[in-house]
Amino acid sequence: MSSADSSKDDTQALKSVRDLIRWGASEFARQQLTFGHGTDNALDEAFHLVLHALRLPADLPTLYLESRVTASERATVVELLRRRVDTRQPAAYLLGEIQFCGMPFYVDERVLVPRSPIAELIEAQFEPWVTQTPTRILDLCTGSGCIGIACAAEIEDAEVDLADIDAGALEVAQRNIDRHELGDRVKAIRSDLFKGLGKRKYDLIVSNPPYVPTAEWQALAPEYQREPKLALEAGADGMDIVERILREAPQHLDDGGLLICEVGGSVPEFEARWPDIPVSWPDFARGGDGVFAIPKADLVAWLKTR
Ligand SMILES: C[S@@+](CC[C@H](N)C(=O)[O-])C[C@H]1O[C@@H](n2cnc3c(N)ncnc32)[C@H](O)[C@@H]1O
Repeated sequence: MSSADSSKDDTQALKSVRDLIRWGASEFARQQLTFGHGTDNALDEAFHLVLHALRLPADLPTLYLESRVTASERATVVELLRRRVDTRQPAAYLLGEIQFCGMPFYVDERVLVPRSPIAELIEAQFEPWVTQTPTRILDLCTGSGCIGIACAAEIEDAEVDLADIDAGALEVAQRNIDRHELGDRVKAIRSDLFKGLGKRKYDLIVSNPPYVPTAEWQALAPEYQREPKLALEAGADGMDIVERILREAPQHLDDGGLLICEVGGSVPEFEARWPDIPVSWPDFARGGDGVFAIPKADLVAWLKTR
């Protein structure tokens, strides 16, 4: 039974912004939705969708939650909340937008919904992991372009390449480059990892590649299955793409350069494959983990031992 059948027309009883948020949260809980694309619970998800649909700011003073909505506003909001239940699409796809590093990014089903903890490293301009502010940056496996574009916005002189194998993802990335008017310093390049990058070299390579083991990907909740498989799944232990990055990154790093790469919940798989690799694991104040950093010199020395 769809959410529309189960609630019939009793939504007429919803009068205020608060009523709509409360109803949405109850529907989301009743239908056992999964969260994790910007919010982590039913109430925050309903709050986010309702305020967005009513074109109200996320920091709306609570006084306005008591405001009455018009009949057409109620219909718009209820339709959006029902679409969230019926399609199981993450809110970001329904709204076509999500915030990353305090910037709005256009997103659709061609790209992963941005949520990488690497945002915190960008906001700190990668200190203390870099000795000098990076100015030639590669965002490898860029998707929406969120990581590379945020780097360019944070570090004013940086030139940034965004690389992805998927043409659809690169269209989204280009749209975000244009939106943030960064076309003079940020370029989207179609490339199977480093293959299409010629002899380009960088002082920082930052990547959130696919790293989910196949069996784990098959068991993901519908919201995660809405994201491109190419963005998530990476072989039996999830390390197929990471292995290529480790092997090929040194040829594209300047001396003194740094590789930063996310492996998320696949840290055990990473450590099982490469127990002796000398990486550091930054801590994140806002949550998240599974991002490693390794200087070029350490990576080269380690590769020689293999
Ligand atoms: C986990 S998503 C990351 C997207 C974005 N960087 C973010 O953090 O939201 C991984 C991206 O890697 C891309 N990808 C997968 N295999 C690739 C390959 N061999 N070469 C380049 N990009 C690849 C996918 O198309 C997808 O956009």
